[in-house]
Amino acid sequence: MSLDITGLNAGYDGTPILRDVEFSVDDGEIVGIVGRNGVGKTTLLKAIMGLLEPETGRIRYGGEELTTMGADEHAQLGIGYVPQGRDVFPDLTVRENLLVGESVGRDDETRYEQVYEYFPILEERADQKAGTMSGGQQQMLAIGRALVGDPDLLLVDEPSEGVQPSIVQSITEDLRAISDEFGTTILFVEQNLSVIQGLADRCYAIDHGKIVDELDGDALADRGQLEEYLVV
Ligand SMILES: Nc1ncnc2c1ncn2[C@@H]1O[C@H](COP(=O)(O)OP(=O)(O)OP(=O)(O)O)[C@@H](O)[C@H]1O
Ligand SMILES: [Mg+2]
Repeated sequence: MSLDITGLNAGYDGTPILRDVEFSVDDGEIVGIVGRNGVGKTTLLKAIMGLLEPETGRIRYGGEELTTMGADEHAQLGIGYVPQGRDVFPDLTVRENLLVGESVGRDDETRYEQVYEYFPILEERADQKAGTMSGGQQQMLAIGRALVGDPDLLLVDEPSEGVQPSIVQSITEDLRAISDEFGTTILFVEQNLSVIQGLADRCYAIDHGKIVDELDGDALADRGQLEEYLVV
């Protein structure tokens, strides 16, 4: 199923942030959103997930209009969300965090086996409080929490943030492998060059709430071009 966004304007308390955003993500694609701090990347994912009501525009997934639905309904449609900063419940155990993901996710199927296969640490640390884990382990938990709900579309906000470089690489590879194995469509936000180049099939660059460029192939492989949208 494809994600199709047209004429999207959204902001906070009347302050416009996203301006006439239009793009599509095809079934099974991995698409990156790149851009500097404060340009509206998180706002875009929140609008897609139904956590922020747009002023205007349409967000359709598999033909269903998402803008009139709450975040719970998005999860039921098969959309998983890994928020920026992870937002795991620190006082709950790893298992309890995953149970939250299961309860908000689709009813028909869960994916504990696959989550534990990709992130065995989550099974080993099942009874540990999430807040005591490292940044990288919490990121795996946040991804696992979204995955147990059996999503077809995964929205991931800056998976590398606060994660040590060796783990960043493995999380990048895991996300790609998950997409390959399950056909999961991934829309992710990043500012880390190696994650963008290692994960994305193509990218949209965003600046001041507007999509200003689309990069794929040689442009995506070109460090200098990407840095234009990342380095101040
Ligand atoms: N809840 C909020 N209320 C009011 N303004 C907000 C809110 N959240 C974000 N903003 C503002 O909206 C703009 C876009 O923020 P957003 O979080 O989408 O940026 P971002 O591209 O994700 O940045 P970063 O790379 O730092 O995560 C910023 O100017 C920010 O200050
Ligand atoms: Mg952000």
